[in-house]
Amino acid sequence: MQTINRLEPLREAVDALRIGGKTLGFVPTMGALHEGHLTLVREARRHADHVAVSIFVNPRQFGPNEDLDAYPRQLAADAALLEGEGVDLLWAPTVDVMYPQGYATNVSVAGLDGVLCGAARPGHFDGVATVVCKLFNQVRPDIALFGEKDWQQLAIIRRMARDLDLSQPHVDRILGVPTVREADGLAMSSRNRYLSSTERDQAAGLNRAMRKAIDAILASHSAAAALATLRDEVLASGFRSIDYADLRDAETLETLERYDGRPARLLVAARIGTARLIDNMAVG
Ligand code: PAJ
Repeated sequence: MQTINRLEPLREAVDALRIGGKTLGFVPTMGALHEGHLTLVREARRHADHVAVSIFVNPRQFGPNEDLDAYPRQLAADAALLEGEGVDLLWAPTVDVMYPQGYATNVSVAGLDGVLCGAARPGHFDGVATVVCKLFNQVRPDIALFGEKDWQQLAIIRRMARDLDLSQPHVDRILGVPTVREADGLAMSSRNRYLSSTERDQAAGLNRAMRKAIDAILASHSAAAALATLRDEVLASGFRSIDYADLRDAETLETLERYDGRPARLLVAARIGTARLIDNMAVG
């Protein structure tokens, strides 16, 4: 595996991997890799001849009071994991390479970015869209893989790729990969390491309450009572607050009062200790 942190050698390495019409799969990450990330890598290997992974803790997607400084950084350990997965190329740019002096451009996906996590984290999805747009242009993959764990992020990236014509000749496919969970249902996340062992046990209450709420929504077709119970249960299990707990159209992210058979998603963000955890699941 080649580890590269400047643009010129990246272009050369990408060109070399493409010789003979070989395809390139790409998994963008912020590092602190876990089984969720590695599942995306394995999926990329199934769909492409070569695999590139990026590790970049993107300052533009962190708010002023968020965890940019605390965010775990462990490049050497991550590189060893990726090497073990047979990854061909690790793109690990510095902040200066990604945003050189005078950098001024922003990518903003209007509408989808103001709801759910966008409401609590203003500017977050601009930061995500901007860096992913740059990463696509830098790595020029045929297929890019993202986790359904970050459902709103996936929706925003799909819309951006369509709106900015990123799909031809590159990024022909953006593939969503189902959320990888711990045995007790907690969605794997680099931020789970902020949890104390008590909080870690309590955190499983989030997904437990979500699965019950989905059963209730499917039985009654109505969201309000199920969401009220979910809120009570999540707080009772040890979370200190809930940013949102919504039933929404899976693609447009419009709020739904009732489940009417269209693809819908239950999405929740809740705070426990110093961590803000998100999860979402299909309804139906
Ligand atoms: P990060 O949180 O490191 O996640 C990288 C990718 O792994 C994302 O597509 C995310 O959805 C996926 N992922 C994380 N946990 C997962 C899980 N439990 N199951 C399945 N997939 C999971 O998301 C980002 O980084 C950044 O916003 C990024 C897209 C790299 C832009 O900076």
